[in-house]
Amino acid sequence: MFPAMSDRTPPSSADPQKPVSGAEGNWFGFTPVDPSAKSGLVRAVFDSVATNYDLMNDLMSGGIHRLWKDTLMELVAPKPDMTLLDVAGGTGDIAFRFLKKGGGAAVVCDITEAMVRVGRDRAIDRNILSGVQWTVGDAERLPIASRSVDAYTIAFGLRNVTRIDEAIKEAHRVLKPGGKFYCLEFSHVVLPVLRELYDVYSFQVLPFMGRVVAKDEASYRYLAESIRRFPQQADLAKRIEAAGFGAVRVRNLSGGIAAIHSGWRI
Ligand SMILES: C[S@@+](CC[C@H](N)C(=O)[O-])C[C@H]1O[C@@H](n2cnc3c(N)ncnc32)[C@H](O)[C@@H]1O
Repeated sequence: MFPAMSDRTPPSSADPQKPVSGAEGNWFGFTPVDPSAKSGLVRAVFDSVATNYDLMNDLMSGGIHRLWKDTLMELVAPKPDMTLLDVAGGTGDIAFRFLKKGGGAAVVCDITEAMVRVGRDRAIDRNILSGVQWTVGDAERLPIASRSVDAYTIAFGLRNVTRIDEAIKEAHRVLKPGGKFYCLEFSHVVLPVLRELYDVYSFQVLPFMGRVVAKDEASYRYLAESIRRFPQQADLAKRIEAAGFGAVRVRNLSGGIAAIHSGWRI
C-alpha cells in the first residue's frame, strides 16, 4: 500500500520544516512519490481510517479539534440564506456545525467514498435528514457549478491534496463574488518550546496510538509527516492571494499547531 516506507528521512534539500512551494505532489509524507500516485495513496489512508476516524480524532487531539472547528464556524457565521461547500468534508463535522448554527444548506465533497459513507450514517443517526448533500469528488476538480456557493471550507484536507494551488483556484471558481474561503489545517508551531514537545508527540505518540487503537501505524505516521510538509503559514497565505483572494488572514490556533487561513473571493 505504501511506497518505500523505509526511506523516512527526506534529503536536506527537501527539509520538511521548509516545504518547497508547489512541490507537495512529489511527497507522500516524507516518502518521494510520483504526483500521479499521490491521491490514490491518500485515498488508501482514509479508506483505512474511516471507521475509526472520529474516535481517533478525539483521542489524538484530546478533543481540541472540536474547539478549532467551533472557532472556524464562528468565523463562517452561518446564516439561513447561506450555502456552504465543505471540501474534504469527510465524516461531516463542519457541515453539521454549519447547520446547527443556523446555516441554510451544506454540500460535503470528499475524495474518499468510505469517509462520506461514515458521514452519511452519522447524519442519519443525528436525524439530519435534509440540508446536507454528500458528494464524492476531488478538491482539484470539484463537481460544483462556478459562482454557486457563499462559503468554502476545507478542514484538515488541503494538506492531502496533490496540487494545492489547483484546489485553491477551484475554491475561487465555485465561490460567488463576495463569498469567503476558509482553510483549517495543521500548521507550523510558532513557539520553540512547544515545537520540541510536539515533535515527540507527533513522531512517537501518534504512531503508537495508531498502532494500538486503530491497528494502523502507517496512516498516523503519514499524518505527522504530511503536517511537516505542509506550507508555512505565510507561504500558504501568499498562495491564497495568488489565486485571486483578497484580505487574506491567518489565525494561529494553539500556538500554530493549527491555523485558519481565510480570504474574500473578489
Ligand atoms: C483528515 S480528514 C478531514 C475530514 C474533516 N474535514 C474533518 O475535519 O474532520 C481529510 C479528508 O480529506 C479527504 N481528501 C484528501 N484528498 C482530497 C482531495 N484531493 N479532494 C477531496 N478530499 C480529499 C480525505 O478523504 C479525508 O476525508
